[in-house]
Amino acid sequence: MAALVLFGGGGDLAMRMLLPSLYFLEHEGLLPEDLKIIGAARSQESREEYVAKVHTSVEGKAAADAAWSEETWARMEARLDYLAVDATSAQSLKPLKDRVGDGACTSFLAVSPSLYARIVTAMRAAGLAEAGDRVVLEKPVGRDLESFREIDDAVADAFSEQQVFRIDHYLGKETVQNLLALRFGNTIFEPLWNNLSIDHVQITVGETVGVGDRWPYYDEYGALRDMLQNHMLQLLCLVAMEPPADLEPDSVRNEKVKVLRSLRRISHDEAERVTVRGQYVAGTTEGQPAAGYDEERGADSDTETFVAIRADIDNWRWAGVPFFMRTGKRLPEKRTEIVIQFKPLPHSIFGADRGQIEANRLVIALQPEEDISLWVMNKRPGLDQRMQLQPIQMSLSWGQNDRHDHPPRRRIAYERLLLDALHGDSTLFVRRDEAEQAWKWVDEVSEAWTSGQVKPIEYAAGSWGPPEADYLLERTGRAWNSADG
Ligand code: BG6
Repeated sequence: MAALVLFGGGGDLAMRMLLPSLYFLEHEGLLPEDLKIIGAARSQESREEYVAKVHTSVEGKAAADAAWSEETWARMEARLDYLAVDATSAQSLKPLKDRVGDGACTSFLAVSPSLYARIVTAMRAAGLAEAGDRVVLEKPVGRDLESFREIDDAVADAFSEQQVFRIDHYLGKETVQNLLALRFGNTIFEPLWNNLSIDHVQITVGETVGVGDRWPYYDEYGALRDMLQNHMLQLLCLVAMEPPADLEPDSVRNEKVKVLRSLRRISHDEAERVTVRGQYVAGTTEGQPAAGYDEERGADSDTETFVAIRADIDNWRWAGVPFFMRTGKRLPEKRTEIVIQFKPLPHSIFGADRGQIEANRLVIALQPEEDISLWVMNKRPGLDQRMQLQPIQMSLSWGQNDRHDHPPRRRIAYERLLLDALHGDSTLFVRRDEAEQAWKWVDEVSEAWTSGQVKPIEYAAGSWGPPEADYLLERTGRAWNSADG
């Protein structure tokens, strides 16, 4: 019998994301027949108490998606087990190994990354890192290259690279995978996907939420390490990589590493010109007054809650095409999108009185809605004496084109990733050298900030970050995409 062990099985990630994802997989009959799911955490509670907690959390999520079924729950409940453990002690993990038995075991570490090294060492001693076993690591692994390597060395002592699944939940999002389909399942985009046709790329991950009581974690990381090092660089890689030979894990990841290696280093002198750090102060988000970060934290802090960066990829395809990235907390909207901005017309045959000609734009939206749309110029219908032009949005999302009557349920990104980990497919997971390259680049930015004493610039909660983030583009004659096009 195979087992999935959730270390930190009673924690926030497990309750909010992992267990509901497992429920949805169960609902669709996608979980391996004989899989047991074992929650493992410090708290001394019985299986019944644990199952009751899982029930509450899963029912809430499933009911919200009209997917609650007693029958599915009964199947899931039968798989569930719980064991109180100190995961850093081999001795304490022995009974867990007995519960797991001899089948393949996938262990998901949904605990503080500061415990990873000790846990994998204990797992190895307890026999939970055998040849067929796997370990799934939630980000962030480390807070810089050095600490990443320390943790990962301990992981490598227990598991081979093929057994390690480093999660970046953005890779489990439907639209992110759709980006691969769009680029490599069509012929019409790829010939344009380079510096001859593309002016620049924008990646925005805007969140309305503040840091709130997550500050003990967040204050050590900030937006650069929490979001840019992983999610945003992963998106950049998928946009910028060369076509892989196939979809095998190493083929895709080899191409992503090449992109990361081609990222131009941001020197200390340049940091001030190409990066913007911000921190929210009191303001209004979604119509509600919002406190500033320092107030939430209860002390002054130099941690950035917003970052904008211009990245340049020094290779043939992307020479001269800036990639602008921005992310922040307490922004006006929850909006995640990639914008591929094409070059303007080389020459317009339309006079200024025929309407403003806008350069084509491909917008890959991940949140709030998933959509891929292309903005093209079109003739305004009618009998205008002088033909008028207007930009229109062609949506490639399922709505107009799919044969289904209902939109597919919006999946939790972890559904895809848990399923892949259980099947041993690591295509959508981050390889060690990828994470190292990403840390290397991010470390230099962070060192440049420290040595140049670059402090976060204040922005009001509910705004799009400090005005400097706008200047970053304006200086080059460009502007951030706005939601309404
Ligand atoms: C997490 C970060 O990795 O991603 C959080 O730690 C952030 O700070 C979250 O809020 C955003 O994820 P999503 O899927 O809501 O965009």
